[in-house]
Amino acid sequence: MTAMSMPFKTRITDLYGIRLPIVASGLMWLADPGYVAAVARAGLIGFMTAASFPDPQALRAGIRRCREQSEGKPFGVNIMIRTSRDGTDRVTPLIDVAIEEGVRFVETAGNNPEAYLKRLKDAGIVVLHKVPGVRYAKKAEALGVDAVTVVGAEAGGHPGVEPVGTMVMAVAAARTIRIPLLVAGGIGTGDQLVAALAMGADGVAMGTRFLVAEEIWAHRQYKERLVAAGETDTTLLLQTMRNTQRALKTAHVAMIQQLEKNQPGDTTALLPHIMGTVGRKAYETGDYEQAMLSCGQGVVFADRIEPLSAIVDRVEAEACAAMARLTGLYRAPQAAAGRAA
Ligand SMILES: Cc1cc2nc3c(=O)[nH]c(=O)nc-3n(C[C@H](O)[C@H](O)[C@H](O)COP(=O)(O)O)c2cc1C
Repeated sequence: MTAMSMPFKTRITDLYGIRLPIVASGLMWLADPGYVAAVARAGLIGFMTAASFPDPQALRAGIRRCREQSEGKPFGVNIMIRTSRDGTDRVTPLIDVAIEEGVRFVETAGNNPEAYLKRLKDAGIVVLHKVPGVRYAKKAEALGVDAVTVVGAEAGGHPGVEPVGTMVMAVAAARTIRIPLLVAGGIGTGDQLVAALAMGADGVAMGTRFLVAEEIWAHRQYKERLVAAGETDTTLLLQTMRNTQRALKTAHVAMIQQLEKNQPGDTTALLPHIMGTVGRKAYETGDYEQAMLSCGQGVVFADRIEPLSAIVDRVEAEACAAMARLTGLYRAPQAAAGRAA
């Protein structure tokens, strides 16, 4: 497979001008300029997580760094739509910086993007909104986003309060949604990319599969744990907060699950243990047992620490092999008249 081959052309490859219909979604603390630029150079589009930067000016510097390293290839910014506890609008300043810096692609997630959509669209930004359910996808489509990602139960991060498996979610969404559609949740191989296209999606989004890329800055010990992990090494938690999360099974996660069991609804007891800074520290030190780290069931496919481009090459080769296999299995039905004769 040559680096420049374009075996797939879908509405997603057209929308972003990318080589493969794969999006590398936002990853808190980890989707930084170096990683997102590596994704761009590999012919996909990645979204730099705005919430990982301490303030909007740091995001501005991050966008500039990413642009310097991405060889003119497209990249985007992931913006979490949320209301802060003190009522401060932390979203608009991030959008302002993205617009000022000429960012063309934004991935929104977390909540309804309606309040920010006009500003983004007026600036000519292509908005991809990510949701954990078909009804939210329909809502986003009606609001006027350009594309939508539906996330199934297998996903790392937030699979929704009523998680639905990716296999069901994909087809249910494809039968309902008219705008370009991405499917995510447990997807880490080219075979699955082909399956998603067969189910009616225009592409896939991946998070967990890329966590073992060399360009992810986290400690090697954490990546080695991911390489060793199988499909049963993640678990759901925080259901009692209606903020369900899929994370790597660790001692810290087991402790939180016990708290949820013993003190259901006691958010105050949970808060100190689920602070993002705990996760950031674990990525730094490699002491993953002491943190709640988002991770999807597709971790089973993260089998080697290697450059991101090598992961993408393997996914591409798998997708091409899956297409060839399907083609070999398929015999077009003869025309009805021919059969009758
Ligand atoms: C470590 C990690 C951090 C994540 N952080 C974010 C985030 O900050 N914002 C976001 O929109 N999604 C976040 N997600 C979700 C991913 O963007 C993506 O939807 C998910 O990983 C797809 O499922 P997969 O993990 O099975 O590939 C995170 C996922 C992981 C694994």
